[in-house]
Amino acid sequence: MRIDVVSIFPEYLAPLELSLIGKARQDGLLQLNVHDLRDFTTDRHRTVDDTPYGGGAGMVMKPEPWAQALAAVAADRPAASGPEPAPKPVLIVPSPAGERFTQATAHELAEEQQLVFACGRYEGIDERVMEWAADHFTVRPMSLGDYVLNGGEVAVLAMVEAIGRLLPGVVGNPDSLVEESHSDGLLEYPVYTKPSSWRDRDVPAVLLSGNHGKIAQWRRHEQYRRTAERRPDLLAGFDAGKLPRADRTAFADLGYDVVDGRLQRRPDSGGGQN
Ligand code: ADE
Repeated sequence: MRIDVVSIFPEYLAPLELSLIGKARQDGLLQLNVHDLRDFTTDRHRTVDDTPYGGGAGMVMKPEPWAQALAAVAADRPAASGPEPAPKPVLIVPSPAGERFTQATAHELAEEQQLVFACGRYEGIDERVMEWAADHFTVRPMSLGDYVLNGGEVAVLAMVEAIGRLLPGVVGNPDSLVEESHSDGLLEYPVYTKPSSWRDRDVPAVLLSGNHGKIAQWRRHEQYRRTAERRPDLLAGFDAGKLPRADRTAFADLGYDVVDGRLQRRPDSGGGQN
């Protein structure tokens, strides 16, 4: 996969040289280039912002440096691997006004040949850039969550890590991608390591039992408990149609009944947000 990031703070992206993503770059699994938006300005001051039409606080990023930068990146795109023309690269514009970035989005984007990230600062990028860019890219404004960052760089660090670790060969043991939070729509079960007793706290006995069936069941039930407690919103999408009886009982103990294959919170079960 090829990734291009355009930012006025290219140094902000330095952590992408470290750890798994840095190694993936060294190993040639990921080709990642960071571009300085100011290199695409033409004035002496390398200006990238101006005052907003209509008034209001803050500054807006000027369109022309963005068009120059994105056109340069689009012109340099990787050649098609077969007889079909190469697909349009995806232009991801981090913004609190974007669609929500989730694990499903990470999986979807990990299938692309080229991703381009446009890091806005100030009050954002002149909207006409997104319209113009649609001729060259599939444009996807994308939000990490319902809070406001100072710019897109931190969001890009998070998204590139979430996407990059899904590329074949990046994570040494692919099994670790299977059992993590959100891989099955639930939060991950708690984990423990040695010593089995630490500061008067014991590891749950079932994990020392060697009974793999019991361990798997305990872990599933811990996933249900955690998800019900911390993220009850996730349970609405959970397919409960084929749950074994012990799992239905576990959900019943948490205040959920299975109705038409979906979990439904019992009205008398109190607490919770669902
Ligand atoms: N830029 C500013 N806030 C953001 C957010 N919540 N997600 C993605 N990009 C952002």
